[in-house]
Amino acid sequence: MTAIEDAEQRGRTDLWPFWRKAYAQGDPLPKFTCHVSRPAYRFDEDEPLPEEYKGLLIKMLKAEGERAGNKSFLGLMGTCLEVAEAFYPNQETKLIKSEYLAEELKHAIMFHRLAVGLENSFALRDVPYVHYSFHLPKETWADDALFHFFVDLNGAFHARDWRESSYVPLTKMAATVERDELGHSEMGYYFLTLICEEKRGKALAQKLLEKWYPAALDMFGRSDSPNTARFIHWGLKSVGNAEIRQAFKQYVDRKLEALGLDVPDEQKNRHFL
Ligand SMILES: [Fe+2]
Repeated sequence: MTAIEDAEQRGRTDLWPFWRKAYAQGDPLPKFTCHVSRPAYRFDEDEPLPEEYKGLLIKMLKAEGERAGNKSFLGLMGTCLEVAEAFYPNQETKLIKSEYLAEELKHAIMFHRLAVGLENSFALRDVPYVHYSFHLPKETWADDALFHFFVDLNGAFHARDWRESSYVPLTKMAATVERDELGHSEMGYYFLTLICEEKRGKALAQKLLEKWYPAALDMFGRSDSPNTARFIHWGLKSVGNAEIRQAFKQYVDRKLEALGLDVPDEQKNRHFL
């Protein structure tokens, strides 16, 4: 057992990590099947990469932010601690949030290694979080619960598709990242469950869905994105933005309804359809 695995093992509680319950019943996330015929590309770290392929791979990894050399990621982690201090109701939930942070920092090591293997200059590049979902105001614990439920789940859905990736180093870390990110989403969902136990909390969560639900769907980008066909051709993605967004929507709608929350209109407040 590595030191990281030992540290993770010793960090387990009845609650953490949250992914255990979800995976105890099999694969919680759908497999994405490619519907177009394409060459069976496969590239490993030490192999020369076609220029277009490398450009698309770096473009995709830039969106994944968590990288030790990415100043903006470390900044985001800092704000996570501030949000926990300001809005979390007790020591237990703050400790859970600290476990989340420790796991994201583990990811930062894994993505750093991937980046160095790909291009040194990329490993040190600061990539600010451009998507507006990272800049929506967090004014309550419920805001942060919804952020984790939706935004970390976005990461889990993308990592699910990396199991089939043509880039070998990514396939090797896909299952761990997917599992961890799903656990982070389940952490948000656990907080949401506690919040919705009270009438006022449930009303607040329902209100805040108008802000976070469209942002979550928008994170998958435009359905007619010009890059989709090339990502699929090179085996970096199996399906387009519309298909993965629809699978995500089905998953989150089921979870929200299970809490007695109403699912917002999917066209409302959207910026990327
Ligand atoms: Fe995460």
